[in-house]
Amino acid sequence: MKIIAINGSHRKGKNTAALLNVVLGEAASLGAATELLELTDYNITLCKSCNKCLGKIQCSITDDDMAALGEKLLAADGILLGSPVYWANVSTLMKNFMDRTRYLHMGKNMLAGKAGAAVTNAGLRHGGQEWALQIMEYFLKAQSLLVVDTRNPEGPIMDAGVAGSLVVELKDGKMVFRRNATDDELTVASCKQLGRNMVNLITKLSTK
Ligand SMILES: Cc1cc2nc3c(=O)[nH]c(=O)nc-3n(C[C@H](O)[C@H](O)[C@H](O)COP(=O)(O)O)c2cc1C
Repeated sequence: MKIIAINGSHRKGKNTAALLNVVLGEAASLGAATELLELTDYNITLCKSCNKCLGKIQCSITDDDMAALGEKLLAADGILLGSPVYWANVSTLMKNFMDRTRYLHMGKNMLAGKAGAAVTNAGLRHGGQEWALQIMEYFLKAQSLLVVDTRNPEGPIMDAGVAGSLVVELKDGKMVFRRNATDDELTVASCKQLGRNMVNLITKLSTK
């Protein structure tokens, strides 16, 4: 079982990477092979909107790293997306990645039936996390992946998605921030549940 995570943060190895690593760590503890891919390591140019992918399962842009990334997506059983919130949306890198996967979708849904999931985090407490999550989950569903969230059928009640925040509280009129999104116990517990839910779904799909 292989689960790959795609980090859309423009900062490698920071909060979004840390959350993705918690999800992957939990999945690995249950036997999954995992890999974290940082979009900052890939040269992916903008979609030209040439629409050539309507006719064949191939992107007309061949002189960048998208084809190599596409091979990794095709080889995975589970795809986990992570993006920080940028202006109540996903990051530019994540959006560009989504656009460039269009060739895996238009002629035939090449990623259909894989497990999908997403995590986000933001500076504020209501900084647009739900929108960013929905955008990534919509993308995964449009690509015909089976999307899991952080709900635990056996309890305890969790957040319904990983939507980290750096804000802790307002104290004496001043905002108090945590240093890392992973300093929040609930966010970490939600990440672990997401890892378990991904592994459980992939196991169910493979034993069908
Ligand atoms: C361009 C930009 C836009 C941002 N927009 C928002 C926002 O709309 N809401 C919010 O709460 N935080 C916003 N943030 C803060 C980031 O979401 C936050 O710092 C996050 O933890 C960064 O993730 P990283 O550590 O993986 O880079 C923004 C940050 C940047 C750089």
